[in-house]
Amino acid sequence: MVPLNSSDSSAELTIEKGKTDWNPMVVTETFITTFDGVYNYLAEKHGVSFAMSLIVFVASLLVTVIGLVIRIWKKQTIDMLYGALGILDVACWLIAVSQITPFVTRVYYVDGVMGFMFCMMMPFALLIYINSIQKYRYKTCYTILFVLSLINFIVWSALHFTEVFSFQSALVYIDSVLGLIALCVLVTLLLDVRSGHVKEYPYMAVGFLIFVIMSIIEVIMLIFFEMKSNELPMLIGLMCLLILVVIQQIEDIRTVRSKLEDEVHNKTLEKEQMLIHIVKTLAGTIDAKDTYTKGHSSRVADYSREIASRFGYNESELNDIYMMGLLHDIGKIGIPDAVINKPSRLSDDEYEMIKKHPVMGAKILRNIKEKTELAMGARWHHERYDGSGYPDGIKGDEIPEPARIIAVADAYDAMTSYRSYRDPMPQEQVKQEIEKGSGTQFDPCFAQIMLQMILEDKDYDLREKKTTDNDA
Ligand SMILES: [Fe+2]
Repeated sequence: MVPLNSSDSSAELTIEKGKTDWNPMVVTETFITTFDGVYNYLAEKHGVSFAMSLIVFVASLLVTVIGLVIRIWKKQTIDMLYGALGILDVACWLIAVSQITPFVTRVYYVDGVMGFMFCMMMPFALLIYINSIQKYRYKTCYTILFVLSLINFIVWSALHFTEVFSFQSALVYIDSVLGLIALCVLVTLLLDVRSGHVKEYPYMAVGFLIFVIMSIIEVIMLIFFEMKSNELPMLIGLMCLLILVVIQQIEDIRTVRSKLEDEVHNKTLEKEQMLIHIVKTLAGTIDAKDTYTKGHSSRVADYSREIASRFGYNESELNDIYMMGLLHDIGKIGIPDAVINKPSRLSDDEYEMIKKHPVMGAKILRNIKEKTELAMGARWHHERYDGSGYPDGIKGDEIPEPARIIAVADAYDAMTSYRSYRDPMPQEQVKQEIEKGSGTQFDPCFAQIMLQMILEDKDYDLREKKTTDNDA
């Protein structure tokens, strides 16, 4: 672009093929007109694609900044950052080579250096992006391509700026490297289509496909309709690619988050299961102290969980009440074996000693800071619904719900297990006792659920079985 003024009138205009020997320029169009004339001509021809380039530039810059902020702020790898950076580079290239740019920048001499630089930088971010989105399956291939594009960039820049070999002369080599990279990326995408891995990044794959189709359309327009320098189809493809890169990123974050949630959930379940195993072992040691109530804690835990399940507890609450059931008598650990296993009637002092086990149990369990609620079952399972129980004499809803459930299960197991002086009570008698205790000893709601369980237990399976005594 050569601006002329009045001093140039009647001067002779010579158009030379090259600026210097090392940097041959190609003159594509020649016409002499006013500033407005040139501007109007170029604006009509390239205005839309230039505006579109600016839109892609702003959009990809925005996405790059957002990606950068997330990366710094959340310290999280954001693939979108590299995708947008690559697209930003393409937009910069299109702006640099646009014939409108001299009018916007008021720099009328354009030697195309920036265009070449942006063109050679294109693969950097895009290769990192595609490599990451393809889960590093073709890492070696991309590493080679990255090194190749880096050499391409360094060598031609060095030769150009030392005026040894210009970018324009190296065009065919630069384009060959870029073409090779594009071909390799296409091959990896086709391999992923064949292996089904493409399902891992469907949005990006569709974006790339649209971009390729639009680029082909542009080449067709260029060759068959001579619509020179109209990058509109490629720009539309580029914009689609940017949008789909962002969608892909949102989808990836969502997938990672749900995977993490699943992992946390599984880990929590694993931990709970481990805790249950430990608690079960502990409960076994309590039951082992009592000659006549082997397996008691385990059965109370089972019955409590069943009642709670019928009442509507969720999975985590069921685990909690199961553990509370297992540990409800843990306070007995501090009571002498001779008192626990005394076959004859207990003295008043001995009975008072036994009555201390809920408080002792709660004291032990309160040390489990991660699950302080475990102490509830131990402390209040001997409370009665009418307030005549121990150790605190609380009544009705004052008694924590899990303790009211365990109270029913505890009494039921006491009646349905072997004692030194009797076998399990007949099922009908157990039923009557539960009915009798409903509203006085037991919460009527949980007594009702227990009665329903008895009704469904046609073969009277819910009781201590002599043959399985050793499981505790
Ligand atoms: Fe107890």
